[in-house]
Amino acid sequence: MTVTLAQPPARSPAVATSEWGPEPMEKFVIEGGVPLSGTVVPAGNKNAALPLLAATLLTREPCVIHHVPDLSDIHYMLQILSHLGAQVERASGTVQIKAENIKTTAPYELVRKMRASVCILGPLLGREKEATVSLPGGCVIGDRPIDLHLRGFEALGAAVRIHAGDVKLFASRLVGNRVNLSGKFGSTVLGTDNVLMAAVLAEGTTVIDGAAEEPEVVDLANFLIKMGAKIEGAGTHRIVVEGVAELHGAEHSVIPDRIEAGTFLAAAALAGDDVQITRLDPSHLVAVTDALNSAGHHLEIGESSIRVKSNGAGRPIEIRTEPYPGFPTDMQAQMCALLATTDGLSTVTENVFPQRFMHISEMKRMGAQAHLEGATVIIRGVDQLSAAPVMASDLRASAALVLAGLLAEGVTEISRFYHIDRGYESIDDKLNNLGAQIERTKA
Ligand code: EPZ
Repeated sequence: MTVTLAQPPARSPAVATSEWGPEPMEKFVIEGGVPLSGTVVPAGNKNAALPLLAATLLTREPCVIHHVPDLSDIHYMLQILSHLGAQVERASGTVQIKAENIKTTAPYELVRKMRASVCILGPLLGREKEATVSLPGGCVIGDRPIDLHLRGFEALGAAVRIHAGDVKLFASRLVGNRVNLSGKFGSTVLGTDNVLMAAVLAEGTTVIDGAAEEPEVVDLANFLIKMGAKIEGAGTHRIVVEGVAELHGAEHSVIPDRIEAGTFLAAAALAGDDVQITRLDPSHLVAVTDALNSAGHHLEIGESSIRVKSNGAGRPIEIRTEPYPGFPTDMQAQMCALLATTDGLSTVTENVFPQRFMHISEMKRMGAQAHLEGATVIIRGVDQLSAAPVMASDLRASAALVLAGLLAEGVTEISRFYHIDRGYESIDDKLNNLGAQIERTKA
């Protein structure tokens, strides 16, 4: 086994492991009130790239994935694949993986850094008919069980055992079956990915009802089809998989990151003069652009670009997060930052992760007027936010605090900033190129 892992992304904060040393305690210092203008390009889609990389475990042959974003979560996934025995080579945005001989156990030490590591369960079970992976622990955005994933694996004939913090899967053979993956909060994205990756090598036909329709699921299905899988209906609520005996290597390019693009759209709406986001797929962002339009922001939507010419004036709106194609929960916090200075009363209801409001108390420290009623936050727009030291709690909450900092009067300091490097590639450089004044300093 040879491992040629490039250095972790220059800016990725390693979790306090001996290899990478303690987390660098960094903070962002943002000078507010500077208008944004210019062009920005989103990176490859994090939530598409993670299951795509895991899917390379389904074949012994080399796979090449392009447009892989430079993020700490990607780095953790590559560490896990190397630990399982895959040869991993990375050169800027391209990753080559060859999983010739693999192990089927991923330890807590690696898995605890990133919940999404759970998506190696499906490919390991599909290929090796067994897997032992540490159960994901708690998450600040809310309760995140994997019961639907396990329901899918059991439907294919796997025995499931939870023991000593691990989920153990075993099957003498996997047989196609019908399974419904919708739960209390709708469909599950990684659950759909996981069951799909187990079903492609099962005997016979699997029908996944209540499947997630996210573009990230479609990107995974397209890659699996390039590897020789037989899949129909990706992007709809019903996916049909005809199992095959084996899969071969393939080459694929990750779709653009719609949530990063959406974050820049919100930044442009709240602090922009004239900002263009290029190399994206506007059809992945309809719920977001519809919300910005109804909030009175002027958008010019091109074939692969969106231009925001902010007129500064916005209207209050109601947002309800839903599984795709509904309004994405991963854009909820950023929209709260926009609505904090939008004149009038707005409401934001979180239907996917009802407790996902860690950003609200920090934004109130900056003068936002907002109060929570169950899974709804009611926001009364204020004229101006004021800068304050605030703390990031999770990936999208960090993005919301950056947006609030761009707007606030004075200098905002955001600590625990490593969260943002998990999902945004050099967001400070990209915003500074649009005219922002953001500095990354030691805490
Ligand atoms: C994916 O997480 C994304 N992560 C999340 O993005 C995103 O917020 C989420 O989908 C929803 O869009 C990645 O793709 C790596 P779910 P996932 O299973 O798949 C409940 C970000 O900021 N549920 O679709 O883990 C669950 O608790 C991250 O980039 C069950 O009840 O989310 C939630 O309420 C954060 N049982 C709802 O379903 C299950 O077995 C949707 O979760 C699985 C999920």
